[in-house]
Amino acid sequence: MVEALNIKGFRLFPGYLDRAAQERIVGDLRRVLEDAPLFQPVTPRGKPMSVRMSAAGRFGWVTDRRGYRYEPQHPNGTDWPVIPESIARIWSDLADCPKSPECCLINWYGEGARMGLHQDKDEADFTYPVLSISLGDEGQFRMGNVERGGKTASHWLQSGDVVVMGGEARLAHHGVDRIRFGSSTLLKAGGRINLTLRVVT
Ligand code: SIN
Ligand code: MN
Repeated sequence: MVEALNIKGFRLFPGYLDRAAQERIVGDLRRVLEDAPLFQPVTPRGKPMSVRMSAAGRFGWVTDRRGYRYEPQHPNGTDWPVIPESIARIWSDLADCPKSPECCLINWYGEGARMGLHQDKDEADFTYPVLSISLGDEGQFRMGNVERGGKTASHWLQSGDVVVMGGEARLAHHGVDRIRFGSSTLLKAGGRINLTLRVVT
C-alpha cells in the first residue's frame, strides 16, 4: 500500500488483483450487467455523461433530470443485482469499515470517455470510505482538494489497482481525465471499468 497524490487518506494498492482475479470479476460483472444493463446517465442539466453506468447492491447511484441520488432499482424497474462475492471480499479485506458496502457503482469508459472533477457526497455518512477498483484500460485519475480549486495531481490507474479513499480524501474532488483506449487486453472490446463500493445509508 502506498499513500499517493499528497492527500491524507488516499491509499493505493497497485496490482492488488492478479490477472485471474480480474478475469473472475469481469465474468461476475457480465452476469450483473445481463440483469442491470449499462445505461447512459444524463446530468441534472440534461448533458449526457460519456461514461455508461450500472450498479449492484441495495442501491445504485443514478443521475437524470431529477438530480443525483441513490435508487433501490435500476431505471428499468428491477432491483439491482447482489454485489458479487469476488468484489465484496475486497472491501472486507481493505476498507477497514464496520459496515458492508450498499452500492457497487459500475462505470464503463469507452474510447474518449472521461469524468470531470466531482465529490462523492450523496451518501449519508462520510466517515465510511469509498473503495475503487480499476479494470481494463489505464485511466488517468486526478485528485484535487476538499474545497473547489487549488492544485491537483494525477496518477495513471492500471487494471487490478485498488484505491481506498477515506479521511481527507473521502470528500476530495476527483475525476478521470482520459483513458488509454486499448492499453489492456482484459476486456475484449477495450475500455475501462471502474467499480466503486460505497456505504449509502
Ligand atoms: C468515480 O469517481 O465514480 C469514478 C472514478 C474512476 O473511474 O476511477
Ligand atoms: Mn466519484
